Amino acid sequence: MTSSEIRQQFLDFFKSKEHRIVPSSPVVPFDDPTLLFTNAGMNQFKDVFLGTGTREYRRAADTQKCIRVSGKHNDLEEVGHDTYHHTFFEMLGNWSFGDYYKAEAIEWAWELLTEVWKLPKERLYATVYRTDDEALEFWKTKTDINPKHILRFDEKDNFWEMGETGPCGPCSEIHINLSDDYDNPKYVNAGVPECIEIWNLVFIQYNRDEEGKLHELPAKHVDTGMGFERVCAVLQKKSSNYDTDVFTPLIDAVAKMSGVKYDKEENKIPMRVIADHIRTLTFAIADGAVPGNDGRGYVLRRILRRAARYGRKLNLNKPFLFELVKVLVVTMSSVFPEIKEKQSYVERVIKAEEESFNATLDRGIELFEDLIKGLKESNANVIPGEDAFMLYDTYGFPVDLTNVMAKEQGFTVDEAGFNDLMEEQRKRAREASKEKFASVNISVGDLNSFELIEPVNSEFSGYDELKSDSKIIGHKKDNSTDLIILDKTPFYVEAGGQIDDLGKLIAGNTSLNVIDVTKIENKTVHVIENENENRIIPGMEVLALVDEKRRWDIMRNHSATHFLDAALRKILGTHVHQAGSYVGPDRLRFDFTHFAKLSDSELRDIEALVNEQLRLNIPLQHHRNVPFDVAKKMGALMFFGDKYGDFVNVVQFGDFSMEFCGGTHVKNSSQIGLFKIISESSIASGVRRIEAVTGEGVEHFILSQINNLKQSEERIALLLDEKKKLEKDISEFKLKEKLGQIDSVVSKSTEVNGIKIYKAKVNADNMDELKYFGDELRNKIKHGIGVLFTEVEGKVGIVCVVSDDLIKEKKLSAGKIVGELAKLVGGGGGGRPHLATAGGKDISQIPSALGEVEQVVGKFI
Ligand code: ALA
Repeated sequence: MTSSEIRQQFLDFFKSKEHRIVPSSPVVPFDDPTLLFTNAGMNQFKDVFLGTGTREYRRAADTQKCIRVSGKHNDLEEVGHDTYHHTFFEMLGNWSFGDYYKAEAIEWAWELLTEVWKLPKERLYATVYRTDDEALEFWKTKTDINPKHILRFDEKDNFWEMGETGPCGPCSEIHINLSDDYDNPKYVNAGVPECIEIWNLVFIQYNRDEEGKLHELPAKHVDTGMGFERVCAVLQKKSSNYDTDVFTPLIDAVAKMSGVKYDKEENKIPMRVIADHIRTLTFAIADGAVPGNDGRGYVLRRILRRAARYGRKLNLNKPFLFELVKVLVVTMSSVFPEIKEKQSYVERVIKAEEESFNATLDRGIELFEDLIKGLKESNANVIPGEDAFMLYDTYGFPVDLTNVMAKEQGFTVDEAGFNDLMEEQRKRAREASKEKFASVNISVGDLNSFELIEPVNSEFSGYDELKSDSKIIGHKKDNSTDLIILDKTPFYVEAGGQIDDLGKLIAGNTSLNVIDVTKIENKTVHVIENENENRIIPGMEVLALVDEKRRWDIMRNHSATHFLDAALRKILGTHVHQAGSYVGPDRLRFDFTHFAKLSDSELRDIEALVNEQLRLNIPLQHHRNVPFDVAKKMGALMFFGDKYGDFVNVVQFGDFSMEFCGGTHVKNSSQIGLFKIISESSIASGVRRIEAVTGEGVEHFILSQINNLKQSEERIALLLDEKKKLEKDISEFKLKEKLGQIDSVVSKSTEVNGIKIYKAKVNADNMDELKYFGDELRNKIKHGIGVLFTEVEGKVGIVCVVSDDLIKEKKLSAGKIVGELAKLVGGGGGGRPHLATAGGKDISQIPSALGEVEQVVGKFI
């Protein structure tokens, strides 16, 4: 039986028992902040168990993608070293929401295992929670299991909890013993690979709160989970999950690319680690997680690095993990099409991460070796926390990698020290990211400190109006400020990135500035400047006025944020998820998941798309108080850092954008005006930040750009002037320096018939300069003949000068002499008697031509 058949038979079986077959939820549970990764099939039904949500069916079944690498359920360290733990696995599950309970759950599980799949009954065991007589009884009456194979265990094994908090309850597990000693109960829960748990039936009846207390739930539920890969191994009669068709294509691919066979244990471990980890990486990245430095991203990065480092044991030193994505796509995309849709994106992310890891790994290993050497010399055997942290922080070594490497050298790592430094770093990051939105920060205390005349919640009127007739229902004096609670207020209190409104309260003839607003238990507190000690009396009527211009600027930026979000997803891909935002009157800031710097053309396209949409005059559709599930079904985008209540608002602009959002918005896209991105940067690994402006903000931006441009132009003009001056200075300076050559020419001479000859090869930049040198030489020698050769751009330049007396008395001519000299260097030329220039082609003849100057001059005497 293939794994696909096994999966299908499970679903068909529960379909026949009237279960709705539902899709797996994403492996990244963006809407549950208590979880890093989906760790069980029941996660998507948590709200149903807690009684805060409902579904239109009461029985469901599915195969759920799960990752167990952190928190309560963490199998990372086992993976690779045994044959049946995984970081990523499929959990086959069936659920009852207040419908059937223990009897059916037990009966059907038995039926599927022993009648449909025909597992040998004599090898099966059932465990129950130590006090759960009911479940024990059902095992005896509803199945024909060997009664000696029903065992009681305590909390550790038979009380299942989703996390530190959340739904939980006693459970009953089914184990199978595949060894020869299969009738011996001692192997159950003993951690031996021949006797493993395959199915867990949880009877959810409690919720554990933050203080660890259990609360009885309004209804009782069933939540089961079967390890798909384990069941495949059992049904395919394999002793290892990695030998089933779920894993063999991956193992084969690794064997092929490394040229190493899957035979010796020392090779099997790295191959299993790689085959396991690539599944986690692929599914997590396809569902929107990105390797990074924090939380989920950090876990993924560790997993990738663990796999990459195990790859090195197989001599896979270049990026290779990304090549396995396509193998997984072939085997699994029929069940989980998302990995095919995101294939090229996932490959790119993994490859980029592998490349950067390889680069740091090499440098890190060198450093690590130096470190070990130093420690050995001082007879230490513990790697200090600071060094482990430095390896992590600078070279990206996860501490478990450092641990592995340390162990290989007989060292341990001071993990406590490391963790302290990690915590400090996290604290710094938290502080840095804590934005102070409000203009003032007043501790308002709790409601008991207020004079409260009506215990009602403040109604928010600010979606529809910016001034409201309101009544003061609560008051407290606080030095020079007063804190006022209104029954109804248009003032928006910072939430979802949108900052507080500011404005005024008008009480009779008195106008009071609202300098901050905040909420206590759904009551909006307005912080008022009241230096004149105006009397504030609860029950007073006031006019609450929001600073309209400021609010409109905020709304423009908030709505633009939604357009930006949609445009990013259209242009970069649906892996983009909001990671944070700031919406103020002056600008907006949007943080989102993406793995690379945005190119100029991507930024241009995003901006153009947003502006094109804004011009379409799209009206706002504001769906208020929509049940959470309905909003989800509408396809509204969630900001996955937020916690939503049962009823939510959905903000929609035509077909382009629809988001869960409690903020305030323009009525129509064209009210936003123009949208302009002013910066793009990285704020953490895998998280980018765009800052942008809209409306008047764009005007300010353009004006400031024009201003900058003007200033730049002025500055450029100044610099050009300066440059000209400097160039002149430089050429004068150079010339002066070169003229020094003439002095040395003048200092020695030869003679022909009593006529002095001054000759040399000099450095001149061009013929003009050479001529200038000729002039200088002529001035300096007074009587005689001067001849200068130079090289200009690979050719010969010659200048010849003759003093006046020689022209007059001896009828000598520079023109004639230079003409003869030029012939010696393959050229020609001539000119007037006192100074003449010529050129020639053959620079190699300069020395010999210089040697013949006397002879040439001699001919003319
Ligand atoms: N939620 C149960 C588990 O994960 C079925 O084991």
